[in-house]
Amino acid sequence: MDFKYGKLIMKSNDLMRDIESKSAQVVIGSPPYSGNMNQTSKNSKGCFLNLMKGVIFNGHQILSDSGVFINISTDERVNGSLWQKSNDIAFLAQELGFTLIDHIIWSRTKVSLFRVPFSHIMIFKKGKTITPSPSKELSRTFLEKIWHIPDSQIRKDSLGLKFTGALNPKVAELLISRYSKPGDLVVNPFVGSGTIIAQAESLRRKWIGYEINRDLLPLIKETMGRVVIKTSNTVE
Ligand SMILES: C[S@@+](CC[C@H](N)C(=O)[O-])C[C@H]1O[C@@H](n2cnc3c(N)ncnc32)[C@H](O)[C@@H]1O
Repeated sequence: MDFKYGKLIMKSNDLMRDIESKSAQVVIGSPPYSGNMNQTSKNSKGCFLNLMKGVIFNGHQILSDSGVFINISTDERVNGSLWQKSNDIAFLAQELGFTLIDHIIWSRTKVSLFRVPFSHIMIFKKGKTITPSPSKELSRTFLEKIWHIPDSQIRKDSLGLKFTGALNPKVAELLISRYSKPGDLVVNPFVGSGTIIAQAESLRRKWIGYEINRDLLPLIKETMGRVVIKTSNTVE
């Protein structure tokens, strides 16, 4: 489905491999909870890491040399113990040729028994070594390593099921505007309710988004219907 700046593909993000090599500036996404991936699998961790391996590998191929891979994920409790899945993703990314250049804790919900109340925002650059950017280039926001930004309201998919994984649009806006310019290509492997692609559209980035769950299409259309195209690239 085509929009002014981008394209929504209601299929698996395996298809990222079809994007031209080195054409993207940002690959950004928040992967699903491992328990939501495959109801019949006993090895939800293994399935999850396989999925991430493909996304990180394809992300590496399609990113330009100055591009960034941004992963936003929440650790999980599996069989009662805490699985620090963000760490596993960071190790995978480093094995596949990325270097972690920034790590922000996003404090997003109140403490609950069922959900870890913060997410890890990890930013990776291609290559084994990096040249640190001068600190004057970093905005105040990016020097703050803990972001206190509330979660978005819970919405429902076309079956009436609650969709709980949506990002606050502010988080997507801050990251996209920091790491890309209008006209750059932003790729979102996990569209969900459409928060990231809506911000990419609003900030006039070219974008490609993938979502495997067709029941989310009405929700995504609703999110895209609210997009207002911004004429400046500044974020308050
Ligand atoms: C945590 S949600 C993303 C939420 C999104 N950031 C938002 O703000 O709404 C993860 C999404 O990835 C989708 N997904 C899981 N595996 C996928 C795959 N292989 N290809 C494309 N989408 C996938 C799920 O259906 C789910 O909607």
